[in-house]
Amino acid sequence: MKTPGLLSFLALPVVWAIPTSELNAFLSSLDDYTEVTNAASSNLFGGVANGIGYVLDHAQEVLHDHLHQGQDTLEKWVHEGKQFVKQNGLTYELVTNPAFQDYQLRVTDPDLCDPTVKQHSGYLDVTDGKHLFFWFFESRTSPEKAPLTLWLNGGPGCSSITGLLFENGPCRVTNGGKSTKPFEHSWNNYSNIIFLDQPVDVGYSYSTDGSTVNTSPVAAEDVYAFIELFLARYPEYADMPFHIAAESYGGIYAPNIGSVIHLKNKELTLRPAPGVKHVNLASIILANGQTDPYVQLASVPDYVCDGPYPLFDDPEGAQCTALRSKVPTCQRLIQGCYNYNSRLTCVPAIVYCYSQLMGPVQQTGVNPYDVRKKCDRSKDGSLCYKEMAWVETWMNDAATKKALGVPAERTFQTCNTDVNQAFFSQGDGVKNAAALLPPLVNDGVRLLVYAGNADAMCNYVGNERWMEKLEHNFHAEFAKSRPVPWVTLEGGIIAGEVRSVGGNGFSAGNVTFAQVYEAGHMVPFDQPEAASDLFNRWILDVPLILNATEIASTMTVPFGGLV
Ligand SMILES: *[C@@H]1O[C@H](CO)[C@@H](O)[C@H](O)[C@H]1NC(C)=O
Ligand SMILES: *[C@@H]1O[C@H](CO)[C@@H](O)[C@H](O)[C@H]1NC(C)=O
Ligand SMILES: *[C@@H]1O[C@H](CO)[C@@H](O)[C@H](O)[C@H]1NC(C)=O
Repeated sequence: MKTPGLLSFLALPVVWAIPTSELNAFLSSLDDYTEVTNAASSNLFGGVANGIGYVLDHAQEVLHDHLHQGQDTLEKWVHEGKQFVKQNGLTYELVTNPAFQDYQLRVTDPDLCDPTVKQHSGYLDVTDGKHLFFWFFESRTSPEKAPLTLWLNGGPGCSSITGLLFENGPCRVTNGGKSTKPFEHSWNNYSNIIFLDQPVDVGYSYSTDGSTVNTSPVAAEDVYAFIELFLARYPEYADMPFHIAAESYGGIYAPNIGSVIHLKNKELTLRPAPGVKHVNLASIILANGQTDPYVQLASVPDYVCDGPYPLFDDPEGAQCTALRSKVPTCQRLIQGCYNYNSRLTCVPAIVYCYSQLMGPVQQTGVNPYDVRKKCDRSKDGSLCYKEMAWVETWMNDAATKKALGVPAERTFQTCNTDVNQAFFSQGDGVKNAAALLPPLVNDGVRLLVYAGNADAMCNYVGNERWMEKLEHNFHAEFAKSRPVPWVTLEGGIIAGEVRSVGGNGFSAGNVTFAQVYEAGHMVPFDQPEAASDLFNRWILDVPLILNATEIASTMTVPFGGLV
């Protein structure tokens, strides 16, 4: 297990530059910091940080491939009004936009995974040397009428291709990574969908001049540029509702991206700019997300001691008592981070809370992403799922790379440790992303939060709690709402329970929370039918609180029915 040099972040040499009030807050909680220091030096942290991030004991080398920089022989030409470029022996269509001078798109059209639908893949190139990889699939049903979804996995540092090949994409990796097979519960059944590897150095994204990104707000700016260039090149999707669906650490990414889009949309209304499109942001979907750490980390003892799958024999026993005793300090530290939003306050919070609250969970030997299972890292890999290694095998195949427009020398990793640590060192993971959501919700952007109830990393109890607290126009109604059973349309099974407000029974609601039964962190992996039922009904705005019979008698379902 690798222990990052966290102590160096605690002894920040910039004390003089910190406002007095913040410094006082820091000094007055020195006791807390002694605990933090102890926590950091106990060897716990390496494994724990994997937590949301999966990552830290993932021992693979990170490829910052400077060797090939400058060796690309570029060849550009124009054919039938389109620009093309040949680079690294691969041919791409080149997409530029005068409104986004620092960015260009390089695209190709693969036919892997699901050859029945149109696909695009390639890179968003940023002038500072960042290259973000994406893979797009058209909807299997009526692509010209279907919404557009952006799917992001978390980490920070983990590839969204994991979601594609392991959770909700049109195919699943099989046979040890030698092949893929079509996936019937794919989220592209009723949506056009983009899987994006971000920030730079994640998955097949790479940097050619050492540029890095280590905070979610900065990452969000590049994602916005990507969406704009994508919609400019493929305007057929620009008028469709646009959804951002993000898992785990994506609970922090997505509100940041949504905020940037919302702000830019507002600026555009005041000052229309040629070449810049209004992004039709319809909803944000958070999947077992980390979004409000103050509430969510404090819920860990409640979940692991009193939840549906308790990890300790006695909820009043020594282990649970010890775990609960960590909550006040953790919350005090996170409050400091929320108040000052600085490394000085946020890094100690992340170190303390993860080591003290998630450490003991990790040490029980259960799979923290699915507490119904044990995790034997020697057999299952550091991420507890052997299929993740298959994803790497398939993605690193030369034929896969060629078809996707990925330079042959790139190496694919499920998660990148360096990116994970860079975000950690900024304390990004304990900032309050929930606070970004109310302005969006109040302007009509819908919000779906769902959580598999066997996940200990971002447990459903904490997710439901921050949803209850969130202050937007639907707050009072949501706080009063009670969970009702959610029955899938196809199988008619009770897949979980939902709380939904704003829909008046005729839509899936403006603010909705779903607890998914018998599912861990990766809900589409554990409950594929339920996950696609939830996603399809959400994007098509079909009530989750009604069953198939009730829906049939009250409304017309888009595309003539979902089943
Ligand atoms: C999704 O698409 C697959 C492949 O076309 C199909 O077999 C399946 O029934 C569809 N599922 C739903 C819920 O429409
Ligand atoms: C609720 O969501 C719908 C879209 O389904 C939107 O038209 C409406 O404005 C939202 N309501 C409020 C009060 O924001
Ligand atoms: C659906 O709801 C109706 C009315 O509440 C009920 O009579 C019926 O049994 C339900 N069907 C299923 C499959 O749950």
